[in-house]
Amino acid sequence: MTIGKGGILGAVLLTLVLLFAPFASGLAQQAPPANDAALIEQLKGPLAGRVSIPDAKSGLLIQPQGRDWRQTLEGPVKAGGGWLLILSVVAIALFMAIRGRIKVDSGLSGRTIERFNGIERFAHWLTAVCFIVLGLSGLNLSFGKSLILPLIGPEAFTGLSTFGKLAHNYLSFPFVFGVLLMAVLWIRHNIFTGVDMQWFRQGGGLFSRGVHPPAGKFNGGQKVIFWLVVLGAIVLAVSGYILMFPFYFTDMAGMQLSLIVHAIAGMVMVAVILGHIYIGSIGMEGAFDAMGTGQVDVNWAREHHSLWVKEQSRAGGED
Ligand code: HEM
Repeated sequence: MTIGKGGILGAVLLTLVLLFAPFASGLAQQAPPANDAALIEQLKGPLAGRVSIPDAKSGLLIQPQGRDWRQTLEGPVKAGGGWLLILSVVAIALFMAIRGRIKVDSGLSGRTIERFNGIERFAHWLTAVCFIVLGLSGLNLSFGKSLILPLIGPEAFTGLSTFGKLAHNYLSFPFVFGVLLMAVLWIRHNIFTGVDMQWFRQGGGLFSRGVHPPAGKFNGGQKVIFWLVVLGAIVLAVSGYILMFPFYFTDMAGMQLSLIVHAIAGMVMVAVILGHIYIGSIGMEGAFDAMGTGQVDVNWAREHHSLWVKEQSRAGGED
């Protein structure tokens, strides 16, 4: 038996009618839109059909909120984050130019005191190394296409971004572990007290030479950094794991919100940590040793953490 041309055409037409019937019936109930604007207005709500597979969300054909979400992400979130990072770098550069390197006013004594033991330094550097890779690969996800792609071309950018995305996913685990370890080790030293208020009133002595407000193991500014790191890491981890396991914990709207929260928290943390890295390295004489060898000069410790030195001397920790 042979099927004629008419038979084939008929079968194709029937298939097309069956495929588009649900959409046609949906739209047929309303008057056809007069122009594009009217069509968009008509499609304000989601355009969804029905599917017989378990993944019910794949029946969602158009989700207009997605358009608003992309505009928010590409507009205010990226622009705000970009300006925040530029502001942070400019503020550090200005501080560096005006204040210069913060010196040990009484000079180095040559005697040292243990500031951080091996576990504390391990927790810090694990967190720091992971954060730097997470921060750079995250910024590449947000800004790489417009800033790095034109510089290195599509092939290198594809390699870089593929590697960056893998690193971003896997390093999140040791990062969270590092922050938890730091939180356990240091939480008791980071409760705010009246001493910190005095530290804040005197600007931490950061803006005037020879001023050294008293401080315990951590001063008021460091406590702020500590809490921003701990709370920021919680926000990043929760929103990040929601994104890493799509639709496992939440629906489409939850995924969209998580990405915006993750992007904002990441950029705020990078902006804050830039200042921390400056003060902990070139910005303050003698500070890096605390996380390098773990030993700091006694005069540095007396100027920046006088109450802690007194405690340590009572406990016999000074060399
Ligand atoms: C190259 C990068 C970094 C350098 C050079 C650095 C340096 C330092 C130094 C020297 C200290 C001890 C300060 C003191 O003795 O009082 C410190 C403490 C600390 N660091 Fe870092 N750090 C870096 C990156 C990071 C990152 C990426 C994080 C977290 C995301 C972080 C979180 C902390 C915290 C919470 C403390 C204790 C509180 C404080 O001193 O502010 N650090 N860091």
